[in-house]
Parts: sequence; structure tokens; C-alpha cells
Amino acid sequence: MAEAIEPFVADFMGALIDIEDAGFDADSLISRIFSRGMGIAKRKRAEAEVAALRARIEASGVSDQADVGQKLAMMILGRDALTGTIAYSLRDVFEAGQGRPFAALDFPELPSSTGVPYIERMAHERVTIDGLALQPGDRVRIMLRAFGHSGDPRDRAQFFGTGAHTCLGRPIALEAWAAIGAFLSGLPTTVGPLRCTPRNDDIFAIPASLELEVRP
Ligand code: HEM
Repeated sequence: MAEAIEPFVADFMGALIDIEDAGFDADSLISRIFSRGMGIAKRKRAEAEVAALRARIEASGVSDQADVGQKLAMMILGRDALTGTIAYSLRDVFEAGQGRPFAALDFPELPSSTGVPYIERMAHERVTIDGLALQPGDRVRIMLRAFGHSGDPRDRAQFFGTGAHTCLGRPIALEAWAAIGAFLSGLPTTVGPLRCTPRNDDIFAIPASLELEVRP
């Protein structure tokens, strides 16, 4: 099962930006360019990967640099957000459904965990929000992951942010989640033991591996 998510997301993202070879190696650094903890060698490798992806997009016939940039941004912003969200939400479904047939699993309409655990904003002027006084330059970290624990499943819609920068990938991400649920619910097999290993990542919440035993 673990191996199935990564190629699915790569194919899905490739179809979305209309290039055939959008896949990355499992240890790709492409979406980790936001990471503050990355050393120089890895940073160089990440930049080389971004340049190679840009070249592949251009080779697919896209010449307008704004279009190239848009496709690149979608790959970088969407890939780990989608992989992490699907993987951890599947983990939740499988954990709750241990020993049950796939057909009896409960796939929620909205994913139960997010691959984007937090976002940040910076105050540009003095402002007080809910009693919290902010000075210009103060950074505020918004813990989106907490919406997964609110008790009201509808709150998970907030996983995609809000306002001017609301996630542009939200409709297709939800469509992908629904399609995966529909597919898995049709399997004639039973959910066995689950192993999930987190990736060491300061931006996204994404497992390094997710393995599920499937039983007859
Ligand atoms: C379930 C998976 C996803 C989650 C949880 C997620 C979450 C988010 C969040 C929280 C933001 C807001 C960031 C902020 O306000 O600072 C965002 C922005 C964005 N997302 Fe996603 N995302 C997901 C999938 C995708 C996919 C698949 C794509 C592309 C196909 C995508 C493209 C974008 C883009 C382009 C933005 C920037 C929007 C802007 O700044 O105007 N996302 N996402």
C-alpha cells in the first residue's frame, strides 16, 4: 500500500500539469525547498531537481514562462501536501478499521489528517487578535492540524487555509481522496496490521513509509 501512494500522486500531478514524466525518486527533495533545516549539499540537489523539472515542463511544449512557473509551483506545493494528507488519513482509516473488510471501512468525506500541519503569517502593523497583541514583524503560526481534533469533521475544511491564499488544489485533492475511498471500499480483502514511519520534515507532515498488510 505504501508504494501505491507515491506513484499515484506523481501520476496524478503529472496528469494535472500535462507532462508524462512528472515522477520523482522516493528521496526527491523537490518539495523540501521550503525547509529551513536543509544543508548546502541538499539545497543544491533540490535546486538541480527544480531546474530539471522546469526543463521537462518546457520540453513538453510549454514555452510561456508564466505557464511554466505555474506548473512548477503546483508540483512543488501540491505534491507533499497531497501525499501526506492522503497517507496519514488512510492511516487513520486503517487504524480504526483493523481486521475489518475494506468494504466496511469508514472513509470520511474530508481527510482526517493534513500534510500541511501549519502555515505562518507576519504582522505588518500593530494589531490585537483575540487579546493577542502583535507588533509589526511578529510571526504567527497557525496550527491547521488542530482542526483534525476539533470533534466536528466539517472543521477539517480548514486544512486548506482560508482567504486570499486558500489552497488552489483543494477541489482536486478532495476528488482524489473520494476516488481513493471509492476504490478501496470495493476491494474484497481485509485490513491487516499497519506500520507507519514518519519522515523527518519541518514543513510537511508526511510518512517516510506506510505499509499495510492485506488479508483475504
Ligand atoms: C490535501 C492536500 C492539500 C492540502 C492539505 C493543502 C493545503 C494548503 C494550504 C493550507 C494552503 C495555504 C497556504 C497559506 O495560506 O499559507 C495551500 C496553498 C496552495 N496550495 Fe494546497 N494543499 C493540498 C493540495 C494541493 C494540490 C494538489 C495543489 C496543486 C495541484 C495545491 C496547490 C496550492 C497552491 C498553488 C497554493 C497557494 C495558493 C496561494 O497562495 O494563492 N495544493 N494549500
